[in-house]
Amino acid sequence: MDILQKIARYREEEEKLKWEGTFAEYLEILKEKPWVAQSAHSRVYHMIKDAGVEVVNGRKRYKFFSHHLFGLEEALERLVEEYFHPAAKRLDVRKRILLLMGPVGGGKSTLVTLLKRGLEEYSKTDRGAVYAIKGCPMHEDPLHLIPHHLRDDFYREYGIRIEGELSPLNMMRLEKEYGGRIEDVMVERIFFSENRRVGIGTFSPSDPKSQDIADLTGSIDFSTIAEYGSESDPRAYRFDGELNKANRGIMEFQEMLKCDEKFLWHLLSLTQEGNFKAGRFALISADELIVAHTNETEYRSFIANKKNEALHSRIIVMPIPYNLRVSEEERIYEKMIRESDVANVHIAPHTLRIAAMFTILTRLKESKRPDVDLLKKMRLYDGEMIEGFNEVDVEELKKEHPDEGMSGIDPRYVINRISACIIRKEVPSINALDVLRSLKEGLDQHPSISKEDRERYLNFISLVRKEYDEIAKQEVQKAFVYSYEESAKTLMDNYLDNVEAYCNKTKLRDPLTGEEMNPDEKLMRSIEEQIGISENAKKAFREEILIRISAYARKGQRFDYNSHERLREAIQKKLFADLKDIVKITTSTKTPDEQQLKKINEVVARLIDEYGYNSTSANELLRYVGSLLNR
Ligand SMILES: Nc1ncnc2c1ncn2[C@@H]1O[C@H](COP(=O)(O)OP(=O)(O)OP(=O)(O)O)[C@@H](O)[C@H]1O
Ligand SMILES: [Mg+2]
Repeated sequence: MDILQKIARYREEEEKLKWEGTFAEYLEILKEKPWVAQSAHSRVYHMIKDAGVEVVNGRKRYKFFSHHLFGLEEALERLVEEYFHPAAKRLDVRKRILLLMGPVGGGKSTLVTLLKRGLEEYSKTDRGAVYAIKGCPMHEDPLHLIPHHLRDDFYREYGIRIEGELSPLNMMRLEKEYGGRIEDVMVERIFFSENRRVGIGTFSPSDPKSQDIADLTGSIDFSTIAEYGSESDPRAYRFDGELNKANRGIMEFQEMLKCDEKFLWHLLSLTQEGNFKAGRFALISADELIVAHTNETEYRSFIANKKNEALHSRIIVMPIPYNLRVSEEERIYEKMIRESDVANVHIAPHTLRIAAMFTILTRLKESKRPDVDLLKKMRLYDGEMIEGFNEVDVEELKKEHPDEGMSGIDPRYVINRISACIIRKEVPSINALDVLRSLKEGLDQHPSISKEDRERYLNFISLVRKEYDEIAKQEVQKAFVYSYEESAKTLMDNYLDNVEAYCNKTKLRDPLTGEEMNPDEKLMRSIEEQIGISENAKKAFREEILIRISAYARKGQRFDYNSHERLREAIQKKLFADLKDIVKITTSTKTPDEQQLKKINEVVARLIDEYGYNSTSANELLRYVGSLLNR
């Protein structure tokens, strides 16, 4: 289907969703689908929930967010369970302004945008449908038409509670256009759209002297006063403030704490009482979720000011800290690069991971535990299995600093530095070293980094540089082995068979001759020695491995090459030991002979085919590892 056909199909589908009818007909819809009368908070909550929830490592993951926001599971779980869910149930929190507080570039705006775009789509679905009094500039809830004294009866019949008063404008229209016959009032299905200003609003403060409260609440349209005779005629009022337009949906309040107080008070009455006052006019009921965002410094100075106490108690603050997991950070960069102009540049393997390691280190706080340094903490947070640590340890580490993740380097900085180094380099291919260099240079220009932080950050750069050196060496060594994974697996299986026979005091059977043989002590020792296991410690080590294997078996998991970190290291070293000299000589020679050249080409080809390099980055890697090995 080409794009024009798709556009036509889209229009048809939009057309099909449209509905209008009388209030009496609307009540029929309500009988069948009572949820269409839900409150704005409830609609947002159901939108999130309907997208699906997975449980990953005992933690809820809302699919609504999970394709766009990475590593924020805990914060989002809290946001949903402490705000959206209770607010949907009409509990008191819905009367608070939701204030997202977090460091710069931590995803606050992204989160709010997701909610807005999500609502636009959700209002097109059956579950998310919204209906309004036709022709009302505030898309007023049709149920406001039902007079107060009948609302209890309505609840008994429909099970739906009605909140809010009919607005003065619709009151007048009811009299003038419909002769007071509520059942005839026309109702229509509406579709949220920020562009068309339906159900979604954004307010951002400008100069406090010139900004008019009308931006928020609408205003008298003086040109029509002559026509209607009075300033308090509702028809002379323009309901076009952000609060009006966001009715039934969501309003984003940018930089809320920078805003003049008079604006905030309107919000408070709206959230608290469900209505706001505009000009010389009765109160206007509105039902909308107000979400604001701010950073920690701003928030601290806001609450330090006694004058703001009343406001403070009417705000619910939800922290949105930085992601603290390396793999998720990598995904953030991948996403940001994909969305940028540099999407076609080759990025060598491990580049983004190395950058992410640096970033996460800047966000972590030292643990009190002497056996956990920042690198180890970083690995544990990322879900790596480290001997002697389990999930309980990780939870405890997190509890040591509840405010962890509120400072450090933001993803925008990293992306800016990546772009800077892409632009500088002539070939469209960058590697981890390029990025580290660029990150380092950028620290001097970074406006908000203190001297101490700068020192710390430089330290982290050399720390991750060392990590990279290890990774680079291993990568090249692996590429020197024909079919590395296979060789490692064979060697490990062989080792495990021998260990099993050794521990159980049984014999092995030669696969070719079928002959019985004793466990191959020489083979086992040649592997164990790689990681410094002494003759005295070998028995304990072997037994521990057998226990680990049976623990895996009990859980129905396969014990493989990656299941035991030290064993993996031993196998790897053993494989590399035989190779070391070849790698060293081949990668560093300036004048390779024919055979070396052949080997180099073979390795480059393997790096490209199996490891995701291109020819530039593969050659860069070989040269770099050559220099490392000859230091
Ligand atoms: N956890 C995350 N998952 C996915 N993307 C993220 C995450 N954190 C930041 N980003 C990306 O980083 C960029 C900056 O995020 P965003 O603008 O949402 O931050 P912010 O908290 O609103 O920052 P500011 O305080 O400067 O307004 C965006 O491109 C966003 O997609
Ligand atoms: Mg923002």
